[in-house]
Amino acid sequence: MLKGAPWLLAHRSMLKPNQPMKVSIYGKDYVLWQDGTGKINCLPNACPHMGAMLSSGWCITKPDNSNAVVCPFHALEFDGAGCTVLPGTEKSTKSLLEPLELIIQGDFIWSYGGYEAKIPIPTIMNEIAANYEFIGFSGDRSIKTDFLSLLLNMHDYNHQNGTHRQLFEIEEVQLNQFIDDGFHSHAYIAQPRKNPTLRDIFKNPALLAMPKVLEAHLENFFPFMAVMHGESPILSIKECHFYIPESSNQSRVFILMFVKAHSPIAHLIKGNLLKLVEVVIEQDADILSKIYPNTPQNIKLNNEVGMDWVRRNFDSFPDVVQPNLSR
Ligand code: FES
Ligand SMILES: [Fe+2]
Repeated sequence: MLKGAPWLLAHRSMLKPNQPMKVSIYGKDYVLWQDGTGKINCLPNACPHMGAMLSSGWCITKPDNSNAVVCPFHALEFDGAGCTVLPGTEKSTKSLLEPLELIIQGDFIWSYGGYEAKIPIPTIMNEIAANYEFIGFSGDRSIKTDFLSLLLNMHDYNHQNGTHRQLFEIEEVQLNQFIDDGFHSHAYIAQPRKNPTLRDIFKNPALLAMPKVLEAHLENFFPFMAVMHGESPILSIKECHFYIPESSNQSRVFILMFVKAHSPIAHLIKGNLLKLVEVVIEQDADILSKIYPNTPQNIKLNNEVGMDWVRRNFDSFPDVVQPNLSR
């Protein structure tokens, strides 16, 4: 399960203060919450009393400003260290829930899922956050699929005309360049589009931000993230995709969207961009639920180098074999 990779569990905006959230990684569930002071905590989600999901509980702030998550079953209160005060006593117990180690960089909540780090956290998200406007998260979905299938889908440059046919109306996919740098890669893609009708534009003004030829530069960070660098006269986009292996047959994806506006129209389009991404991920989730696993692949198309890159890295992880897929 790719132990040693960093995973972005959430962006701070996904955590409403004092609202517990469930996150899963490597087959284990955790409760993640942010207290009123911005401190973020993460504990195993099963209450050590009788197993209720702490993420279904609530948070309290005590008079001394300390904070705890409250179990929805019998209302035991656990602080960020996993300690509780049992009824009829005054002293805090020892830790009954071992906190999951988080690495918090600004608004980004990373974790190695409790394993030793083998791959460093890249600095790119901090650079994007410093230079672009964050407009929100979208497409946060837990999909019933194994992690390799999810990664293959996300690095498949041919499925626009099947999975996403109604959205983009792509005429063809040209993979102009693929730079293989081990666990890091770049794909430069050009996709000529059919012209959208006025009705399409009315339904989805974000189409206006999409030029006749969709040029995309995808920067991939195996196995946890990909950034789509998009440029148009109206705005620059950094569409950041994150992948998380929740368990052997459940995988999560979500997107953080950052923009830099070059024209006032950009501000009209921002909300629609998030909606567009929501639809894209819904379509991906749909096709992933309609694939027979382990079907031998007896046909190979052009432009599958992104998937070849995923398979090679998946097999060699955490070692990088000699990069050999550049073209
Ligand atoms: S199950 Fe959590 S307090 Fe009883
Ligand atoms: Fe897709």
